[in-house]
Amino acid sequence: MSQQQASDKRGHTILLGGLSGDSHSVGLAILRQSLSANGYQVRYLGTQNSLTDFFQIASLANVVMISSMDGHARYYLREFPAFKREFKTNGTIWYLGGNLGVSEGCERDFIEMGFNRVFLKFIELTTVLDLLKQDLSGVQAVENYAELWKHHLPATCCFPGVAHDRLLELETFESRRREVLEQWKTGNGARNLASNAQFLIRQPSFSKVQAHVRMDHGPILVQPRCGVALIGEQIRLFKNFKRAGIKVLSYQVDSLTRNNNYAGADEAIRESRLSGNSMLNGFPVINHGVAGLRRIAQQIRLPLQTRHSTRDPRLLAEISYAGGVTSFEGGAISYNIPYYKDYPLAESIRNWQYVDYLTGLHHKLFGIVLDREFFGTLTATLIPPCLAIVTNIIETLLAVRQGVKCVSLGYAEQGHRSQDIAAIRMMAKLTNEILDHLGYKDVQVNTVFHQYMAAFPPCLKRADELIRSSAITAARSGATRLIGKTPVEAFRIPTLTDNITGIELINGGLAGAFGCYVDEARVAEECVVIRREVDAILESIILCGNGDIAQGVVTGFEKGFVDIPFSPSVHNRGEVMTARDVEGAVRFLRTGNLKLDRETREFHQDKVSERRKAEGVRSPFQDHLLVERDVMQVAWCRYERWPLGQ
Ligand code: 5AD
Repeated sequence: MSQQQASDKRGHTILLGGLSGDSHSVGLAILRQSLSANGYQVRYLGTQNSLTDFFQIASLANVVMISSMDGHARYYLREFPAFKREFKTNGTIWYLGGNLGVSEGCERDFIEMGFNRVFLKFIELTTVLDLLKQDLSGVQAVENYAELWKHHLPATCCFPGVAHDRLLELETFESRRREVLEQWKTGNGARNLASNAQFLIRQPSFSKVQAHVRMDHGPILVQPRCGVALIGEQIRLFKNFKRAGIKVLSYQVDSLTRNNNYAGADEAIRESRLSGNSMLNGFPVINHGVAGLRRIAQQIRLPLQTRHSTRDPRLLAEISYAGGVTSFEGGAISYNIPYYKDYPLAESIRNWQYVDYLTGLHHKLFGIVLDREFFGTLTATLIPPCLAIVTNIIETLLAVRQGVKCVSLGYAEQGHRSQDIAAIRMMAKLTNEILDHLGYKDVQVNTVFHQYMAAFPPCLKRADELIRSSAITAARSGATRLIGKTPVEAFRIPTLTDNITGIELINGGLAGAFGCYVDEARVAEECVVIRREVDAILESIILCGNGDIAQGVVTGFEKGFVDIPFSPSVHNRGEVMTARDVEGAVRFLRTGNLKLDRETREFHQDKVSERRKAEGVRSPFQDHLLVERDVMQVAWCRYERWPLGQ
């Protein structure tokens, strides 16, 4: 069937969405596209929905597909049978899939609840499509109640909001600050900036250690990840990393704190003390407060960073800096679009401007340079370098406007060595050029190479190889810092031992990095492509904001001039789709509304046509097959070696 035929024939209606906590939407994004390509009318709810969201409109669909990825499906669905009775959705067929947990009898339980099809683990799209066809044969397609749907589906950017990139006024900042410090009882401990600065100025500095590397005085900084509920255990981890030669440290903040649920974190801390085990998946900074952080800083004596993805990061930044932390991760796009379903950009921009202003104020008042890092990793899945770089540049511009003097730009390895090296180099180069052009002469620009951030190989040998080879790419890219993975990434949060193994693998890769072959001619080619793309996208954003970068972000996302693949956010158009070319580099399958020039678009089209041909995919109509293969390739170990391409 051609695309035209598919849209002519009104197919069955499928309501598709994710349940509750997940922000992961890669699988849903692929399913959505492939169902549409096969002629179904897809009504997409995005991620993080409640059961009510589904049931309110279930009777308007032939099939409801619910995805639940975080292993808590049984909990979220406990009221499903009652809902089914109440809403009387008799004709509706219910599918449940994702990652549902693996206990005995699991599938039967969900069937008894009232589901027609249950997929406990990942299954191939073709299987879903076959079963759907079977289940819908002889079933009449429901009417299309367009008005009703419009009323119920997420209000994609109805009120995109207004933002501006002017420097905050001190009075505005101070009045907001009073509210921020009231958000939790430990906030008051961060109130006195002058006395905080006295402590902070004596702490080892992230920006100084990075400056040292940038001036070619040191090798790339290796940074492991960790984060536990209790201070004593956090100190023990840090001390062990320090003994292993690590020069900069960070903790991951737990997910209760990230959702600003400090009461919940308090309870988990109490339980952790009682049980002797960490009941949190990270370090609860707000609850331990300034005094807790200072205890860590005093015992560790290495530059510290806060890594998180918090919705409202302001109190977290206050307590981090007051506690002696000299680097803070996150930004208005990078900690919004990959994580949240409905977090208006105008609001996240305002929150992050507060953080940037606070960061800049430390320089202005006390001469302390604090580092601001941006999470250019985004959704971690098939992210083309230009989108990561544009995000970093925008977040840099918003930050320096508020007085920030040191930035770290993040990029996640995609797996094609020349492309990854080009991405890191161009990210630094283009950012420096733009800052220079705008007259910012005193901003330090660092780059951060994240080892592969999408689904990891579940085979230890493959994981070892990936970590080792990835370190070579990182070293050769000239990145300031490398954020490491561990061989158990596919299975669990790493223990101390796992992390030490990871560090050893990375060191092994770094040791031989400069003897390895890098195809500099290929790197140069990728640099040219990246520059063209970044220039075009940035220009469209700046123009649509009438020169105001903050408004440009809001309007740019609304119009699809910037569009991040696989995002769960309703403020992101989701029309761009990416896949690998025959060499393994990431290309655009669909450029959506990105304002790329014709030559660039043709370049990508050529690259993906070549790939389609090589894989026997007959038309763009079946592109989802490529995306599915690419997304699962590493997790299924269906590749020869790392990196995937040179
Ligand atoms: N301890 C160690 N590693 C962590 N990660 C997230 N939280 C923690 C923690 N508390 C790691 C994951 C993944 C990355 C996003 O961060 O393993 O690699």
